[in-house]
Amino acid sequence: MRRTLVVIGIQLSLAAAVVWAADVDISTDLMQSIEDTTKDLDSNVALKDGQQALHDAKALATLFDEVEQHFHQASDAPRGVELSQQSHRLVDAVASKVAANDFDAAATSVDQLEHTCKQCHQLYKPPKP
Ligand code: HEC
Repeated sequence: MRRTLVVIGIQLSLAAAVVWAADVDISTDLMQSIEDTTKDLDSNVALKDGQQALHDAKALATLFDEVEQHFHQASDAPRGVELSQQSHRLVDAVASKVAANDFDAAATSVDQLEHTCKQCHQLYKPPKP
């Protein structure tokens, strides 16, 4: 006799608590630089251009330090500080994997970085009017 167990997955949406309230002041220029440099990094890792990829990773580390400063200055945005630091760590991970000539592992870290962008945007990026 076969028994079929039906598992019903219930997705709990924790996203309900929205935190726009934090007075984070991030310039869109800063974010545009991050966007452009991340795209560059992504393609340089794909092309296995180690020198350019390291250059991009270094630039991103500095840009995420700037983002972190903005979140430090905001009155109540601890997740933003954490996500900036996490982005910085992921950029460092990309750099060390590129330096070790492991471009597959570097690409995985780039994916994780892009996921971190989305996490922060869900919390702190104001919706488009
Ligand atoms: C720690 C938080 C945080 C992280 C991490 C982050 N962003 Fe942002 N980003 C923001 C906030 C806040 C805004 C909204 C800025 C505004 O409109 O005032 C934004 C806006 C943007 C914009 C829109 C800029 C515009 O012209 O309106 C782009 C593009 C962007 N981010 C790209 C990225 C990319 C790519 C990454 C990851 C590599 C990233 N961001 C990581 C916080 C973050």
